[in-house]
Amino acid sequence: MPHDVIVHPMRNKSHALRTRLTKAANAAMKHAYAPYSDFRVGAAILTAKGKVISGCNVENASYGMSNCAERTAIFSAIAQHGPGLEIKAVAVTNAKGVPCSPCGACRQVIYEFGPDAIVFYQGKSGGPAESHITELLPEGFRLK
Ligand code: THU
Repeated sequence: MPHDVIVHPMRNKSHALRTRLTKAANAAMKHAYAPYSDFRVGAAILTAKGKVISGCNVENASYGMSNCAERTAIFSAIAQHGPGLEIKAVAVTNAKGVPCSPCGACRQVIYEFGPDAIVFYQGKSGGPAESHITELLPEGFRLK
């Protein structure tokens, strides 16, 4: 009989969470409004209450007014469930399957609600990557 493959329990848990959030992010990505960049992005967050909330990027003819998928997901979560948001994890996906970690602005917004959040994304080498938010944003800004 072949030996069972032993997967470290934490690694397995993290993998299952990545899969769950990635599915939600991919579904949201289908709704992206990205006629200017043609770069469609989806994001999903897991809250401390166990809810998954997703978002997509929404661009504007005045380019700087565009909103990233990650911030859409976070702002939607607050709009739906109130200001007590606590983010446990975030996943971000894009239609081109290219490397894409959250931009600097989104890192700061993730940090506001998830100073201990894990972020799942497509790494620079092309494979799946995961980082603690403080690895992506050391010394994030806090007022209190
Ligand atoms: N974008 C995101 O939605 N999330 C990211 O993590 C990176 C960039 C969006 C912003 C803009 O609509 C498009 O991708 C190209 O920058």
